[in-house]
Amino acid sequence: MTQDELKQAVAQAAADYVAEHAAAGSIIGVGTGSTANFFIDALAPLKSKYKGAVASSEATRQRLEAHGITVFDLNDVDNIPVYVDGADEIDAGLNMIKGGGAALTREKIVAAVATTFVCIADGSKLVDTMGKFPLPVEVIPMASAYVARELAKLGGTPVLRAGCVTDNGNLIIDVKGLSITDPKGLEAQINQITGVVTNGLFAMRPANVLLLGTSEGVKTIV
Ligand code: A5P
Repeated sequence: MTQDELKQAVAQAAADYVAEHAAAGSIIGVGTGSTANFFIDALAPLKSKYKGAVASSEATRQRLEAHGITVFDLNDVDNIPVYVDGADEIDAGLNMIKGGGAALTREKIVAAVATTFVCIADGSKLVDTMGKFPLPVEVIPMASAYVARELAKLGGTPVLRAGCVTDNGNLIIDVKGLSITDPKGLEAQINQITGVVTNGLFAMRPANVLLLGTSEGVKTIV
């Protein structure tokens, strides 16, 4: 199977999961990225069952609306039973690195509201130790040089992502060369740096369920 076929398989599995676990009339949280895009396509035929969705990025909002799915402002929603999103890396504890698509802050906010986070990923995303994928950090533009110096003290190599402005008007610094043995500790430590909006470690709020696409089929890991 190609990587796209694996992504499609987990996206369909996630739509089935939502159909089974989210009550009719619910609002579904929807992530960002190529795997999440397949999920949106798989969710579209079920749209009459749900009230609508909350989007974790402008790109996702546009794709949902193109399918005729109503998109709600998060401030008008107090209950999201299921949030479905991809990851750049995920470990056995269901901690993740996210933000390859620069949507990490809104993703983390929607995930915070959601009851269940379902991560959908092809098998290449499952790792023993996170850090091979550069860790994205969203920063307030005026703080980017200061934050980069502080991030360098943590042992990685910070690189400003060229030409990238987030949906929130901020910048992304990717930190290369980290070996993340304490995801929760590092998530908290980076978030303490003044000027950081948030970082792409999802360890304090990890996934609850991983639907992993493999050549033997979709594996459910909890
Ligand atoms: C978006 O900012 C990211 O967190 C994505 O969820 C992550 O990069 C996974 O994207 P793909 O599904 O495209 O690999």
